[in-house]
Amino acid sequence: MTELVDRIVARKAKIVVIGQGYVGLPLAVRASEVGFSVTGFDLDAGKVSSLCAGVSYVGDVTDERLGRALASGFNPTADPSDLSGFDIAVISVPTPLVEGRPDLSFIEAAGLVLATHLRPGACVVLESTTYPGTTEELLAPLLEKNAGLTRADYFLGYSPERVDPGNARFSFEVTPKVVSGDRAESLAVIAEFFSLLVSEVVPVATCAEAEMTKLLENTFRHVNIALVNELARYAFELDIDVWRVIDAAATKPFGFMRFEPGPGVGGHCLPIDPTYLAWKVREHLGYSFRFVELANDVNDHMPEYVVGRLTHMLNEESRSVKGSRIVLLGLAYKAGTGDWRESPSAKIANQLSDLGALVSICDPHVDPSRSGDYASLLVPFSEASLRDSDLVVLLVGHPEFDPELIASNASLILDTRNILRGVEFTGEVL
Ligand SMILES: NC(=O)c1ccc[n+]([C@@H]2O[C@H](COP(=O)([O-])OP(=O)(O)OC[C@H]3O[C@@H](n4cnc5c(N)ncnc54)[C@H](O)[C@@H]3O)[C@@H](O)[C@H]2O)c1
Repeated sequence: MTELVDRIVARKAKIVVIGQGYVGLPLAVRASEVGFSVTGFDLDAGKVSSLCAGVSYVGDVTDERLGRALASGFNPTADPSDLSGFDIAVISVPTPLVEGRPDLSFIEAAGLVLATHLRPGACVVLESTTYPGTTEELLAPLLEKNAGLTRADYFLGYSPERVDPGNARFSFEVTPKVVSGDRAESLAVIAEFFSLLVSEVVPVATCAEAEMTKLLENTFRHVNIALVNELARYAFELDIDVWRVIDAAATKPFGFMRFEPGPGVGGHCLPIDPTYLAWKVREHLGYSFRFVELANDVNDHMPEYVVGRLTHMLNEESRSVKGSRIVLLGLAYKAGTGDWRESPSAKIANQLSDLGALVSICDPHVDPSRSGDYASLLVPFSEASLRDSDLVVLLVGHPEFDPELIASNASLILDTRNILRGVEFTGEVL
């Protein structure tokens, strides 16, 4: 056993988590809960002061949990000198696309700040979603050059995150975590650390396998959502209820997995991660990853399709989109979260506003102070908001969106999530 494994088992290892967002904050709080000394580093001073004040902006971490972590020494900070003396650093920074290409500048910046404090015998784990090869081909040389170390001096690995914001059943702690290392000793350190945080760790042979595992998981979801989205469009034209078709197919006890149509995909994962994989395949092999490109095409066009359906519904009422009062239920990209990054609701709101509609949005999960340009459109979810509309569009299945209340107060509804199933209402289902 290495000395670091001993320190981990004894909870003596100093943990730092770079990036205190949807992924990094729950990890930091969990590590604190199991007894580690944890520093949560983020460049966003506003986030750090909110955390220091005990106010969490991540739904899966309650203020109570955060308060307990702070009381036991959790240290949110924007000061890089607080990283000194770390034993294990986990990097959970964004990996966006810029003009359709992976942007690894956040990982590079995190690597640079860590290199200053990387000592022999310490460990660095990349957790951000990225294309296969990033850990060993990009992060490792950057760490080694700037820390003046060789690979044998420290431990390195990759462990993807599977956090599903708002999922009450599969929290971070009970979701198996894939782990990898650049060599057996690194894997042993990283597996030992994460086994104290989650119920099960799943070791894989190489960092690239772990990196690709994450991309397979998200590409699988992306492609299957595109399949049902395209099916929903054709089923509507054929006058077949796609939801009843999916219900029936889902009774097959093997070989079928349920996916549901919707207004498009959002969040930090599905609209972005498959393109990381497609980029790697194109860049290194020269092939196009056709499944990913097709799924992108189908899912990207869903907001436009929803706007088309709304336009048609209003037309049937002898109304135009221009001047109609349209209430969107949900700005977040999925139920139970306030995260509206890449949200199809935002695209639909923009398209409707461009057409001259009077758009308002109800979303009890979105903090108005973190809703950017949409703050002025947010209204409470209430009978009055529903009544004061020509058309209500159900975009997100938040539990607060009471089907009876919506059906009895809205004059015309497009339900893109089949939330009103079993309730009588005037309107259509996607
Ligand atoms: N959100 C999810 O559901 C989810 C799930 C699985 C994987 N991921 C992946 O995890 C990674 C992080 O995603 P997220 O949703 O937590 O992002 P996020 O934007 O919520 O959080 C990232 C944080 O990193 C901070 N940051 C950026 N550069 C930094 C730096 N150099 N030093 C310190 N802090 C820095 C930002 O200020 C931000 O607070 C991404 O690669 C994402 O694809 C996200």
